[in-house]
Amino acid sequence: MSLSSETESLWVLALASKCSALTKQNIFFSLLLLLLIWFFLSIFYWAHPGGPAWGRRRNSSSSSSATIPGPRGLPLIGSMSLMTGLAHQKIAAMAKSLGATRLMAFSLANTRVIVTCHPDVAKDILNSSVFADRPIKESAYSLMFNRAIGFAPYGLYWRTLRRIASHHLFCPKQIKSSESQRRQIASQMVKILSSTAATSSSLHIRQTLKTASLNSMMGSVFGRFYNLSDSNPEVQLLQSLVDEGYDLLGLLNWSDHLPFLADFDPQKIRFRCSRLVPQVNRFVTRIINQHRENSSQQTMDFVDVLLSLQQNDNLSDSDIISVLWEMIFRGTDTVAVLIEWILARMVVHKEEQQKIQEELDKVVGRSRAVVESDIPSLVYLTAVVKEVLRLHPPGPLLSWARLAITDTIVDGHHVPRGTTAMVNMWSIARDPQIWSDPLEFIPERFLSSGANLEFSIMGSDLRLAPFGSGRRTCPGKALAWTTVTFWVATLLHEFKWLPSPDQNDAVDFSEVLKLSCEMANPLTVKLCPRRT
Ligand code: HEM
Repeated sequence: MSLSSETESLWVLALASKCSALTKQNIFFSLLLLLLIWFFLSIFYWAHPGGPAWGRRRNSSSSSSATIPGPRGLPLIGSMSLMTGLAHQKIAAMAKSLGATRLMAFSLANTRVIVTCHPDVAKDILNSSVFADRPIKESAYSLMFNRAIGFAPYGLYWRTLRRIASHHLFCPKQIKSSESQRRQIASQMVKILSSTAATSSSLHIRQTLKTASLNSMMGSVFGRFYNLSDSNPEVQLLQSLVDEGYDLLGLLNWSDHLPFLADFDPQKIRFRCSRLVPQVNRFVTRIINQHRENSSQQTMDFVDVLLSLQQNDNLSDSDIISVLWEMIFRGTDTVAVLIEWILARMVVHKEEQQKIQEELDKVVGRSRAVVESDIPSLVYLTAVVKEVLRLHPPGPLLSWARLAITDTIVDGHHVPRGTTAMVNMWSIARDPQIWSDPLEFIPERFLSSGANLEFSIMGSDLRLAPFGSGRRTCPGKALAWTTVTFWVATLLHEFKWLPSPDQNDAVDFSEVLKLSCEMANPLTVKLCPRRT
């Protein structure tokens, strides 16, 4: 017998001799004691400003810095309820009530969170290299997004992807080269809407916008072109995959914050991801294989680019699938959601709609359609799009949060490594200290006059940065801006947008927060052609 097994036997004998002390009563009291200790610790942690996750840090070396104010929420789960429903509105109201608009702390069960509703603090967070990572979301990992730009950990791989995307998909030359495709889709939209408007006094616009932006991304990314009026099974399948992915990523997953729940998958998120991923893999792999077979083609789409860089940049096939899937995924809904908000505002604000149409008549005239080179001359339209982004940013909490890579100081407060950071852009953009009459729709505030320079919404001025800012700012913002302004210009040039008679002329601006913040009730309108 070896020495170690002899020692083990002695331990077993020693334990057995103590077993007589393990009566049922003793076990019961021990468990009760453990339960009480656990209960008091939970209360002790919970009593800390910001709730339980912050309480666990109370004895850290950093306790000398001022505590960040914040709600305690409930023991154990903290403020999970803040993140359900219209989270941006709840967080803004809570921060205001606690006087914590610069910085508020709260707990999502075990996860420490900070959130700011102030542009200066937002700038510090978004532009700091410490916050260049994203928090881990189980659904994002299950859906392969950890190998795509949005959720890839900050580092060499992420930098490589951003470089490839900005050189080959989002650079001005590439955006220009897809102009004719956006023009084609715009005229297909006009055709569909004209024929629907001719037979019906009111119509929904959402599905047309979604399919239009999906088709546009399919063209730029996969080099696939579809007619908007044909119901193509490939487009329908991809649309259903994107919708399911959107739903999954937009859900607050309890297992992300309470790891002991992960095994049970109580919201069936892992199960749904595991059903979705093979379908995405099959879909994208088929397109990649077709590109490999036709590698001699003259025009390069993004699939060709990734395949040509595969060796040099060390990208596996599954990396390529993740990147392509993300581009389709990110580029589709955001654009459609924003255009729907803009058109809804136009239906309600008739004077502003008329001003845009007068501008279009002056710059473009009625004899031809709008082209993208008209956009820089359409200053009022540009101001309207900015005003809608202010009132209805598609990502009110900037969609995807940031993660502190190391301990750091934010606005004079110590913030430990691993803390999730959010910026409430919705609240900043409606702050009366920053914007006069913030709830009013006044596009004129963005018209540069005299010494006023044009207000950039691309991330340099955090009073309005709907595309985020810093290292992880949205790489698709120029493409999104070009698409949105051009399509909105076309739709307003072609039609007068009126309230639907079926809905007593009312437009409902209620919001629903999924991955993006959408109109809760799809816009219904009546259209009158302007150019016939
Ligand atoms: C109206 C349209 C859009 C809005 C409002 C929007 C907004 C945003 C926001 C707020 C972020 C997070 C930025 C941050 O953390 O600072 C983001 C990230 C991202 N967006 Fe967009 N986006 C739009 C369109 C697009 C398009 C068209 C694409 C691509 C085709 C795209 C691709 C991405 C990607 C890949 C990221 C992750 C970047 C990273 O983590 O490095 N977005 N977007």
